[in-house]
Amino acid sequence: MKKDRATYRLLFVCLGNICRSPAAEGVMKAVVERAGQSDRFEIDSAGTYGGHAGEGADPRMQRAASRRGYRLTSRSRRIRLDDFEHFDRIIVMDDSNYESVHRMAPDSDSVQKIYRMVEFCRHHRASYVPDPYYEGAEGFEIVLDLLEDACQGLYEDVMREEGLNPETENV
Ligand code: 4NP
Repeated sequence: MKKDRATYRLLFVCLGNICRSPAAEGVMKAVVERAGQSDRFEIDSAGTYGGHAGEGADPRMQRAASRRGYRLTSRSRRIRLDDFEHFDRIIVMDDSNYESVHRMAPDSDSVQKIYRMVEFCRHHRASYVPDPYYEGAEGFEIVLDLLEDACQGLYEDVMREEGLNPETENV
């Protein structure tokens, strides 16, 4: 790896950290596990709004994720200033999240770490991951469709950035 430490750190961010970003965390953990790369990654999530701090993922999101084989175990927390130092990439779900995180970023290096989740979609075309909180069941399925696509793309992007072949690399 290019960096002098072995772990690549990813933080997914949405508004409440109970729907989209916990699901992104769960899907990404499954992607790296399937690839045999769990040891190389630290994966976490946070919200720009702290009103759900301490809560598990929304039960509707948990059920939809569980049907696809993902277990969401995270507890909601608000993004902190030291996250900009700790994580290599901070990946947001929509433009509002982008603005909130950008406003908080302490310096230009931190701004460079902010990405939009949909940048990594290889099959779906979307300009953001829509907030499912006030939507019906279909909203959660749309989120998971986008996240599964984007997490695979993100994994490949990180591995290439690290000079590793995502197709063949195995520990
Ligand atoms: P999330 O969804 O940002 O995907 O976790 C939401 C969760 C809670 C609220 C809004 C969106 N809320 O207004 O409490």
